[in-house]
Amino acid sequence: MRTLAFPKQFLWGAAASGPQTEGSADKLHESVMDYWYRNCPQDFYDGIGPDTANDFYHRCQEDLQAMKACGFNSFRTSIQWTRLIRDFETGEPDEKAVDFYRDMIHTAEELGIELILNLHHFDLPMELLDQGGWENPRTARLFQIYAATAFDLFGESVRYWTGFNEPMVIAEAGYLDGFHWPKYRNKGRAAVSIMKNIAVANALAAREYRRKKRNGSFGIILNLTPAIPRSMSKEDLAAADFVELFYNRFFMDACIRGIVSEKFQSCMKQAGIDFELSKEEKHLLQENTVDFVGLNYYHPRRVRSRETELITEEWTPNLWFEDYEKPGVRINPYRGWEIDPHCLYDIAMTVKNEYGNIPWYVSENGMGVEGEERFRDENGIINDQYRMDFYTEHLEALHQAMEEGSACFGFHAWTALDCWSWNNAYKNRYGFISVDPVSQKRSFKKSAEWFRELAESGLLKTASGSENSES
Ligand code: BG6
Repeated sequence: MRTLAFPKQFLWGAAASGPQTEGSADKLHESVMDYWYRNCPQDFYDGIGPDTANDFYHRCQEDLQAMKACGFNSFRTSIQWTRLIRDFETGEPDEKAVDFYRDMIHTAEELGIELILNLHHFDLPMELLDQGGWENPRTARLFQIYAATAFDLFGESVRYWTGFNEPMVIAEAGYLDGFHWPKYRNKGRAAVSIMKNIAVANALAAREYRRKKRNGSFGIILNLTPAIPRSMSKEDLAAADFVELFYNRFFMDACIRGIVSEKFQSCMKQAGIDFELSKEEKHLLQENTVDFVGLNYYHPRRVRSRETELITEEWTPNLWFEDYEKPGVRINPYRGWEIDPHCLYDIAMTVKNEYGNIPWYVSENGMGVEGEERFRDENGIINDQYRMDFYTEHLEALHQAMEEGSACFGFHAWTALDCWSWNNAYKNRYGFISVDPVSQKRSFKKSAEWFRELAESGLLKTASGSENSES
């Protein structure tokens, strides 16, 4: 057994998002997720939609106290654009929403929980999707107006802000692979324009934040899914290189370095996509890079060169690679995601070696498991040893990279309390605290106590458990 020490000021906690926790009570506008559920409830696991989520809207104080009991010194969630803003054109806020968010911020402050507030977690207002959504550059201007309102209202009390969570997923899930609304597939051109407009929107929000001279930091949360080639063949290596460039590096480059790489631009040229940044956009990205970055890591992506035919009307990144399942690797069977803690080390070292060692933190990492009720022990506690093992292994890899100088300042699990997860609804549970989606009853899992000890001591014990160990 080894004991690994993390720094004294390390942020320990978890992430969540407004739409996945608050539910839609008192919300003025519909988001794309609300609209999707209203129109296609059959797309959602067990037919459960976003209306109640885990009722954080009504249980915010109790839930923040529960997080404190798990040892959290920090917590990320998102403001819902569709809740805070009454008028998207002027940025006029809704008073009920202001009261709710003020109360949340105040409670967190009283408990000594540092809040990281995010502005967009897949939840574009439906009215804006009707006007082209992120394909329309105007959405970025409206986002700036929304961000300005949020900074005016809460910028004094909250020190960490981020523009977007996983912007790549908006393009990928909605326009390339069809698993989130508007469920398009293979629309490469639309996806690329969305990526560009979101990078611009994040920079506009960063500029707004600095103009207001708020005393904190502005960043972004990106999902990194390292691409692993099937083989060392030239073709497979090229496929992995492209996946890395398109899905991981575009936002890293745009937000941390303030550029779109030559390599990306030449790929777009080859794809026949007109990708041009105007002089103003180039300047905006360069001048408004982020102060820090949050990186979500769950699993790697195995890829190979395209071998099966893909028939599409237009260019799509999937034409240049395909996913590949390597036999025999460790998989979380419920989510179908490979488990590879070492990739977190690689990510940490990439930030150090290729992105100027910018301050960063693990903003999501976790293991979703179905049917956790079967792990309740004689005391009625869910014994989620697999979760503790999963986190332990990832933290070990992270610690190694920190020893080698990677400037990581925190670790956030996904998530604190079981929550509604888009069309997967309550299928896979990720929390330290279980939530019954019908009764909304909460109860601490075994990992809650484990995390409290870890967060309070900053010491990770690396002996891995075997009982209930599914990873
Ligand atoms: C992350 C998202 O990518 O994955 C979260 O930021 C999401 O919003 C989490 O809930 C887990 O996803 P899923 O589909 O396994 O429940």
